[in-house]
Amino acid sequence: MSKRSVLLTCAGMRVDVVRAFREALDGLGWDGDVVAVDANPLAPALVKADRGAVVPHASSPDYVTALAELVTAHGVRAVLPLADLDNVELVAGRDQIEGAGAALLLPDLAVAEAMFDKYRCHEALLRAGLPSPDTWTPEELPPDPPLPLLVKRRWGYASRDIYRCETLAEVRFFVGYAGVPVIVQRFCPGEQFSIDVLCDLDGRALNVIPRTMIESKGGESIKGQTTADPRLIDLGRRVAEELRLVGPATIQCFDEPEGLPVTDINCRFGGAFPLPLAAGSRYPELILRIACGERVEPHVGRFTPGITMTRFYDAVIIPEGTGAAGPGQVAVEAESQGPGPA
Ligand SMILES: Nc1ncnc2c1ncn2[C@@H]1O[C@H](COP(=O)(O)OP(=O)(O)O)[C@@H](O)[C@H]1O
Ligand SMILES: [Mg+2]
Repeated sequence: MSKRSVLLTCAGMRVDVVRAFREALDGLGWDGDVVAVDANPLAPALVKADRGAVVPHASSPDYVTALAELVTAHGVRAVLPLADLDNVELVAGRDQIEGAGAALLLPDLAVAEAMFDKYRCHEALLRAGLPSPDTWTPEELPPDPPLPLLVKRRWGYASRDIYRCETLAEVRFFVGYAGVPVIVQRFCPGEQFSIDVLCDLDGRALNVIPRTMIESKGGESIKGQTTADPRLIDLGRRVAEELRLVGPATIQCFDEPEGLPVTDINCRFGGAFPLPLAAGSRYPELILRIACGERVEPHVGRFTPGITMTRFYDAVIIPEGTGAAGPGQVAVEAESQGPGPA
């Protein structure tokens, strides 16, 4: 039997995802490697993966070619991003990745582009009859909008460039100060939730796992609890299926008396990945199976509610002269440091 490996892009610090795919391959009894890539040779996930490779930045014209070469070299069957930054590039290069033999766990180009653009995401939600808070481009902002408002980076990620404004003068200031394209959005005062979904390659929601956001740091949830709130499960399924998401995605919303406005959709595993996994998501195993052509039946709502995650930092020590490739090197294989506590 040929290899059935997985390739994780923009792997960065996501050792938790690397480990979960290793365990999933072992659990399935499959011969396959976890291949992790990043443009930064010091990305810890490169060291913890079976194969770590430094690749050009996603904006490079050589990015997808470098990935396709790894797909061929390592028998990769599934490719998925662990950050937002390369989703559009991956989808644009879908033919090359699929031509090399791997399924790409991302939606179509128009959907991927819209999910990375907070203004188009808002439009897509409204078009599908789904809740989204009032959102404007700075030019469209009405003279008397409801306050407070948020100025948010339009192609934003990791909570960068988000400013709360109590007055229109503040809005005008932060639109200029941001220095990047922004949107202006109604501030949602309710409790925030995240919903971790997995869709198959046809866009069917296989599972939907909501969680609370007890505490976040740098845009990443570090404390949270799974919840079986049927309103959130229903919202997650509708968003995933109406917007035609494919693969793992995280949907963020606020709980308000009038509904559950959706403020962000990311086509990748949420930062709180260990929590839905501990709740029984089995998302890595399901991804490997659907990428290899198996049909997995939807089982929305089947997970353990009420479990809590609290995270901590850990470190990888790279011995002198081994491990990560030197700065500036490209497409250099970093040998695994072997198993061990991360
Ligand atoms: N409309 C909103 N109302 C209140 N808080 C918001 C709103 N939009 C975003 N936030 C806060 O800012 C954080 C980052 O915003 P988000 O839209 O998720 O962008 P990013 O792509 O950077 O994750 C959210 O997790 C939330 O805490
Ligand atoms: Mg977000």
